[in-house]
Amino acid sequence: MTDPACDLIIRGGRVATVSDVFEADVGISGETITAIGRGLSGAKREIDARGKFVLPGGVDTHCHIEQLSAAGIVNADTFESATTSAAFGGTTSVISFAAQHVGMSLPQVLEDYHALARKGAVIDYAFHMIIADPTKETLERDLPAMIKQGHGSIKIFMTYDRLRMDDEQLLDILIAARDGGAMFCAHAENHGIISWMVKRLLARGYTDPKYHAISHARISEAEAFNRLIGMAALVDQPIMIFHVSTAEGAKVIRQARGEGLKVFAETCPQYLFMTAQDLDKPGIEGAKWMCSPPQRGAADQEALWQALSLGDLQTVSSDHAPYRFDETGKLRAGPNPNFKQIANGLPGLELRLPLLFDAMVSKGKLGLEKFVEITATTPAKIYNLHPRKGSVAIGADADIAIWDPQRRVTVSDAMMHDLAGYTPFAGRELQGWPVMVLSRGRVIVDDDKLSATPGSGRFLARSGGEAAKPTGRLVAEMNPELNFGAKLL
Ligand code: URP
Ligand code: ZN
Ligand code: ZN
Repeated sequence: MTDPACDLIIRGGRVATVSDVFEADVGISGETITAIGRGLSGAKREIDARGKFVLPGGVDTHCHIEQLSAAGIVNADTFESATTSAAFGGTTSVISFAAQHVGMSLPQVLEDYHALARKGAVIDYAFHMIIADPTKETLERDLPAMIKQGHGSIKIFMTYDRLRMDDEQLLDILIAARDGGAMFCAHAENHGIISWMVKRLLARGYTDPKYHAISHARISEAEAFNRLIGMAALVDQPIMIFHVSTAEGAKVIRQARGEGLKVFAETCPQYLFMTAQDLDKPGIEGAKWMCSPPQRGAADQEALWQALSLGDLQTVSSDHAPYRFDETGKLRAGPNPNFKQIANGLPGLELRLPLLFDAMVSKGKLGLEKFVEITATTPAKIYNLHPRKGSVAIGADADIAIWDPQRRVTVSDAMMHDLAGYTPFAGRELQGWPVMVLSRGRVIVDDDKLSATPGSGRFLARSGGEAAKPTGRLVAEMNPELNFGAKLL
């Protein structure tokens, strides 16, 4: 078959979608996939993908990039370093955060993060808007305008002193999200339980990083999920629960979904591949593994895999939140901080996909189609980036990662491209690696070489889309006391 419009053919690889794996050539014209078939010809250039997998570039929908964080400091990365590390790990789209802190104007916040991304990003990007100061101006004037400008999702925190929202503020933001048609994402942990535990542990001299895991008592997760789900159901707003870490948390989500509520949820590699034991290192070393919520136990890992397999959890994101292990980051309070003084977060953009590929494809847990589903197609769908992103399909952007399923890599700090200076996954042996990555038809990674210029990534404007649409049914059926019609709220 001759396709005169084809600029590039990726020849003879095994293409995977959420439902099928098949051998095919992929034809690309300009920035777009224009042909998928056998025996394509007529392109100016070809890439030999025989023996390789041709997969959609990853879509990482939870990463903190160059962001003023809950710890009050900016993450270690720039947009250039973070998106470069994403590209080397096979990810071609990110949704990071534009973080409003108290006293900040939301439009200004977005302008600032846009400027950073425009300057540095090497792959395409969008923003979740963190709301931490839900004033009348923010909720009634700025938020609707920003949603209309293509920022179709909001994120809130239920814990962290600087950013947390109380229940009334949550309800205000939930209803603003609903009225604007935006997805509502949450870091859901019970703040009171955590701060009470922290105070008691520190008062008794338990200061090492491992006590961070104990301070975030398991129940703080399930309690916050339940409360948030209840409030979201009250106003009929779809929600996405970030970084599920416990079996009990996954169970709460399964139950809510079983009742017909529009509750989406993700987990992260740190909860699938690490446990709280990882924090138990000599001295302060465990700080490198500290994130919130903390890693849990082996039984939780199994429960999370099962929840992914059943669809209770739909995506795995990185929650990339890098801090250097020095005075600019983890050790900002001095060389011997107590666990409460250590910034929470891990680098993860680069290894999200290789870790999952190794487990799911090379070791056979859930398989290649499910890998494509939870790392690319479903996150793109939930955040309304699909069909442009997340699939190898005709008409989609040519964002493609070509994987060598045989390549074995031992992870080391030195091979990472972010600015954290370490990876908590160092020493792991992984099978399967993205050897070439294309963003909108351009080869941006070829083995160990980057050929994208900073600023070549584009902003992905999007509305909340289908996933963010209220059901309409729930307000009336689940809250009869409000059944004067949804207009009451
Ligand atoms: O520990 C983490 N995950 N830090 C990043 C901020 C957040 O909680 O998402
Ligand atoms: Zn979080
Ligand atoms: Zn996060």
